[in-house]
Amino acid sequence: MNKIWIGTNWKMTKSTEEGLTYIENLIPISEQLSSRIELFVIPSFTSLIPLQDSLAQTRIHLGAQNMHWENEGAYTGEISPKMLQEIGIDIVELGHSERRQYYNENDQDINKKVHAALNSGFSPLVCIGENIEQKNFAISRETLAMQLKTCLKGISKDQAEKVLVAYEPVWAIGEKGVPADPAYVSYIHHFIREVLEEMFEESSFNIPLLFGGSVNQSNFLDYIHSPHVNGLFIGRAAWTTQSFENILTVLNEQITHNYL
Ligand code: PGA
Repeated sequence: MNKIWIGTNWKMTKSTEEGLTYIENLIPISEQLSSRIELFVIPSFTSLIPLQDSLAQTRIHLGAQNMHWENEGAYTGEISPKMLQEIGIDIVELGHSERRQYYNENDQDINKKVHAALNSGFSPLVCIGENIEQKNFAISRETLAMQLKTCLKGISKDQAEKVLVAYEPVWAIGEKGVPADPAYVSYIHHFIREVLEEMFEESSFNIPLLFGGSVNQSNFLDYIHSPHVNGLFIGRAAWTTQSFENILTVLNEQITHNYL
C-alpha cells in the first residue's frame, strides 16, 4: 500500500484553545510532508467545529471519537451522524478499547455505527484488539476474527474501501500498557489481512491497517517497518506537536530516502 496513515486520538485531554494551538503548529509541519502520508487528528466533540474551520484548507483529516448510529432520537448525551455531517468531519473512530471497556460498547453496536458512518460519507476507523486474558489463552486470532466479522458485517466491497482498521492490543494501550513486540504485530497484521481478504476479496487490499498502543518516539520505526503495517495510531506520543513533529519528520525522511 502506497499511503501511510498517521494519526492521533486526543482522548479527553485538550481544551479547544489547546487544540487550536496544537493545530496551528501542526499545519506548517504537514505542508512539508510527502503526499504519501495521510495525516489525521481526532479531538473531542467540543473542539470539532473550531478545528474544522482551521483545517478546512489543509491536508489534515478531522475525525470524531465516537458516534451514535441513529440520526436522531431520544438518546441523551449522544452525537448523531447527521450532527457530524453538519460539521464536515472525514473520519469517525469506532470501538476504541476504552469505549468497549468503560461504556460496554460491543461489536454489534460498532457494526451499526460502521453502517451509519459509511451511509453518512465518513471513513470509519474501526479499532480492534485482544485483551491480556485472550492473549494468554492464545485466542488472539479468534478474538480479532470475531471482532472484524461482527464489526464489518454486511458492508459491501465498495464500502470496504472507505474503512480503516486499527489493531490496538488492549494490553499495549495507555500508561500501564506494555509495548508490543514488532514481530507479534506483524504476525497479527498478516492474520487480519487474511480475514479482510476472505471478507472483501481484492477490495481488502485498499483497507489501511494501522497499529496503535504505546507507539512512541523510540519504537515507531520498528512498527512502521513491520510487514503488513500501513500506518500508526498514536495517543500520548502525539499529544504535543513537538513529539508528533519528531515522529513525522523522521517518517518523512524515511520516505524521501526510499526506506519506506
Ligand atoms: P497510547 O494510546 O499511544 O497512549 O498507548 C493509543 C490509543 O489508545 O489509541
